[in-house]
Amino acid sequence: MPLLEKFDVAGQLKSGLGHVGKDPTCVVFDQLNSATEGVVEGRTTILAGTNNYLGLTFDPDCIAAGVAAMKTWGTGTTGSRMANGSYAAHGALEAELADLYQCSNAMVFSTGYAANLGVLTALLGKGDAVLLDSDAHASLYDGCRMSEADIYRFKHNDVGSLERRIARLGDRARRTLIVIEGVYSVLGDRAPLKEIAEIKERYGARLLVDEAHSLGVYGERGCGVAEEQGVLDKVDFIVGTFSKSLGAMGGFCASQHDVLGLFRYVSRPFMFTASPSPAVMATTREALNKLRTRPELKETLWTNARQLYNGLQDLGFELGPEISPVIAVRCKDRQSALAEWNQLLEAGVYVNMMLPPATPGGGSFLRCSISAAHTPDQIDTIISKFKALDV
Ligand SMILES: Cc1ncc(COP(=O)(O)O)c(C=O)c1O
Repeated sequence: MPLLEKFDVAGQLKSGLGHVGKDPTCVVFDQLNSATEGVVEGRTTILAGTNNYLGLTFDPDCIAAGVAAMKTWGTGTTGSRMANGSYAAHGALEAELADLYQCSNAMVFSTGYAANLGVLTALLGKGDAVLLDSDAHASLYDGCRMSEADIYRFKHNDVGSLERRIARLGDRARRTLIVIEGVYSVLGDRAPLKEIAEIKERYGARLLVDEAHSLGVYGERGCGVAEEQGVLDKVDFIVGTFSKSLGAMGGFCASQHDVLGLFRYVSRPFMFTASPSPAVMATTREALNKLRTRPELKETLWTNARQLYNGLQDLGFELGPEISPVIAVRCKDRQSALAEWNQLLEAGVYVNMMLPPATPGGGSFLRCSISAAHTPDQIDTIISKFKALDV
């Protein structure tokens, strides 16, 4: 096939998205009024599809920290830490993350996506094996593929499926990394981390947990699901992002293993890209401070999550298996999902459109993610707009 012809398929896909109404990939927010409200085509719209779990994007202290850092350190770092050096804030942020996770080491990346690529490609190579949960995020798949290790998928959250596969690997289990998420990003369900950590110990494998959606949400200190399930010390590598509950941008890895310090010399997604900007590091550090000093944000988030989950469940919608700040409504098929997404947008509610193939079981979902910044009235409005859907 000539080089450019393969884009015919992407073109058809794109026009199919706009067939029913607006193309969900092309929404423009002309203005944001707050962490939970924006303006789309002149219409005030409740933001019910951000990953802004703690509602910190408009926090005055986070904004002030970012502005001050920009004034003092400039707008960008203009290069990688290997070539251009580190700023004091890079090291300070890494020390704060290591402290949060009670680990000896932490490393900051430019995005959560880069963190997954950077950690997986540093850790794994030809001849190594990965056991990957089938619902894992694209960045975990991409990192595993780039590493050239042998990839074996196990059934989502199925401990039996994981154990059958690891047992088959025999002695190679010791060269195996189990890769899972704390909370899965479409259905909001948690990994059975205790059982998975027990298997990894028994077979002498290693374990990586992506806590992108669970940082700030689970665990007493807000570390995520590994902390909540009491197995933080059994996880070899925790990865996460600053772009969700911390309201900034960037990613990290925390580990009890000193080899993490050597990833800086071998991890290409760390070495060959510009380091996080001064404003990003300052807002992230202030957001981590909020995590320590404002535990009530997490409590409000959970109150809000329960209100939305219970409200939608009472209306008879099919939801993920447990209450969580990620609440996905299953639709009949792709066309109904697109139609319902458009109805919600016209009614002033923005949610995420989740279509196959990047979805569990190839389903079509309208995903809401709830924030500590939503008001009970806003959540009632979201529920009433779902109730009014013509399905
Ligand atoms: C589980 C998971 N890991 C990693 C990422 C990537 O994070 P970032 O957007 O910060 O690059 C995401 C983003 O959606 C995610 O859901």
